[in-house]
Amino acid sequence: MTTREQQLQYLEAMGIQAWTARHAEAAAVEGSVEPDPEPAVVVAPETPAPAAPVTSVLDTTDVSGLDWEMLEARVSECRQCDLHTSRTRTVFGVGNRNADWLVIGEAPGHDEDQQGEPFVGRAGQLLNAMLQAVGLQRGQVYIANILKCRPPNNRDPKTEEVLCCEPYLLRQIELIQPGLILAVGRIAAQNLLQTQTPIGKLRGEVHTFRDTGIPLIATYHPAYLLRSPAEKRKAWQDLQLAVRTLRERRQ
Ligand code: URA
Repeated sequence: MTTREQQLQYLEAMGIQAWTARHAEAAAVEGSVEPDPEPAVVVAPETPAPAAPVTSVLDTTDVSGLDWEMLEARVSECRQCDLHTSRTRTVFGVGNRNADWLVIGEAPGHDEDQQGEPFVGRAGQLLNAMLQAVGLQRGQVYIANILKCRPPNNRDPKTEEVLCCEPYLLRQIELIQPGLILAVGRIAAQNLLQTQTPIGKLRGEVHTFRDTGIPLIATYHPAYLLRSPAEKRKAWQDLQLAVRTLRERRQ
C-alpha cells in the first residue's frame, strides 16, 4: 500500500472525506484536507517553552530531579491513593521522550490496566488513526494520562486521585519539554487547564499549559468520537490547529 493509500485509510477512520490537494498548506501531509475554513489560532506563544519547573498544587510526592528510570520506578510502587489497591499495573506512559507532541488522556481503562500501556484498546486505535491522519506515527509522540492507575469501572477520576498523580505527570512534562500538549477529552483538558469549562468550549483554540508557555490544544476523547462519529470533523480541525501551532512555534 502506498503512503497516500494508507493516509486515506486513516482519514476514513476519522470520518474525514479526502480532498484532492488544493489546501495543502493546512495538512501535515500532502493532499488530505477538507475545504473548511480553518479555526483561528487564538494564542500562539512566540518563544519556546522555558524549562521552568511546574509545581503541583498538592506536592505529596517529591519527584523533582528524578530521571525517567527513577520516575517510572516510583510510579510503579506508588500507593498515594486508593487506586493502588484495585490496579493490575500502573500505566506510566509510552513513546518518544523527546517528542514534540505530548498526548494526554484521562486514565487507563481495562486493556491499559492489563497491558501497562496507555491507549491500547479501541479508543487507542482511533487515537493512532487520528495521529496518522496528520502524519504522525504513535512512536513519534509521547502518550500519558492524568492518572497512572485505572479507576474501578472506569469511573471519573476523583480530585484527590488527580492531585496525588499530578507530580508524576508534571515531571514527565518537565523531562519531555514538548512543543505542544494535546489534551484528549474533558477530564484531561479540564484538569490540565484547571477549569470547569465544557470540552466543547475548550476545543478549537490554543491555550497555554499553566506557566510553561507550552501551547495546549484540547480535543474530543477518541472513546467519545467512537460513540459520536459526527464530532470527528471537529477533532480533525483541532488536529490541524495543533499542526499549524507547532509549525508556527518552530519558525
Ligand atoms: N482512555 C484514556 O483516556 N486513556 C487511556 O490510556 C485509555 C483510554
